[in-house]
Amino acid sequence: MLSSKIGGIGFYVPEKVVTNHDLAKVMDTSDEWIQERTGIVERRYAERHKETTSTMGAAAAKIAIERAGITAKDVDFIIFATLSPDYYFPGSGVLLQRQMGMNGIGALDIRNQCSGFVYGLSIADQFVKSGMYKNVLLVGAEFHSCGLDFSTRGRNVTVIFGDGAGAVVIQPTEEEGKGILSTHLHADGDGAEKLAYMNPGSHAGVHVGTEKYGYPEQEFGGMFFTPKMFEDEDFFPNMEGQAVFKFAVQKFPEVIMEALESNGYKPSDLDLFVPHQANLRISQFVQARMGIPDDKVWNNIQKYGNTTAASIPIALCEAWEAGKVKEGDLVCLAAFGSGFTWGSALIRW
Ligand code: UT7
Repeated sequence: MLSSKIGGIGFYVPEKVVTNHDLAKVMDTSDEWIQERTGIVERRYAERHKETTSTMGAAAAKIAIERAGITAKDVDFIIFATLSPDYYFPGSGVLLQRQMGMNGIGALDIRNQCSGFVYGLSIADQFVKSGMYKNVLLVGAEFHSCGLDFSTRGRNVTVIFGDGAGAVVIQPTEEEGKGILSTHLHADGDGAEKLAYMNPGSHAGVHVGTEKYGYPEQEFGGMFFTPKMFEDEDFFPNMEGQAVFKFAVQKFPEVIMEALESNGYKPSDLDLFVPHQANLRISQFVQARMGIPDDKVWNNIQKYGNTTAASIPIALCEAWEAGKVKEGDLVCLAAFGSGFTWGSALIRW
């Protein structure tokens, strides 16, 4: 039976390095606090007025396409995962398509935040396995630094996130037992507001908590923004960090075990575990809980922070470049984030 595999992988991170000390100059935080709670030392910020989410995605895509042994003209479908797109609409997929001269093929944007890459991988896998497409370009890219609150009020969120992009080309393989073995996707909308960027949006007082924005009564027409949102500067992401942390450390192990068990494996069979880079303490907790040794886990949050949909492809690409992903290796990817959404993928490389 036809399976799909990662045929090429690439990543791009902007040049600008922003350290914890740099952030401590603009808000009440410290290198010590950030490192102790998250493991992050520095992150990258995209160059304003020059780079966007889609340009970073295209930079990563070019490398993935070349490594897949194809050209941009051979790509037959684009999946773009991001929570920080160039525009509210249209999606960043069509902008990447325009930059890369791949006009005419389908371009799908998905909004699954930190789980975006795993969700995208699952979609690409189905398209390729069914024989519909042969070269699906899956990109995860984020330009967080243009939408964060750099005052002390936003410090719990702002210190965590960084910018960057990762990309893979998903291709068919007929090699028995190779490629993407399975993907597992989950969501729980009860946690929707615990990690969210709600404005602008159509919520207009419908969801609990959104009444506070004071929508004017009018027969027709709505308002994405209200004056109160501007007065309160309520257009930044908010996060109940501890609630997110607790849910993550419960769901990560569950979804990893789901991937392993549905293929008849146990944690000790893994050659590499690449967790979404949310917080080094979460990764370490999960690793310890599952008894996975240090040399079988790839973490790079120390250098890049949390790059949301880009974090898994960036980490996987770095691991691959470092020779940690070899032919025949069993690799598990797992992600968790806003929604809540979570998921995993098991790959025989
Ligand atoms: O991929 C996206 C998924 N998101 C996550 O995985 C995030 C999961 N959660 C976390 O990683 C942690 O909750 C954080 C790192 C965000 C926060 O760590 P925490 O240990 O949960 O801190 P906290 O929110 O409970 O806050 C503890 C204290 C508070 O001060 P008081 O009230 O005790 O005086 C915060 O105001 O730490 C303060 N604080 C900070 N202090 C210095 C919060 N952020 C900062 C900061 N610098 N950046």
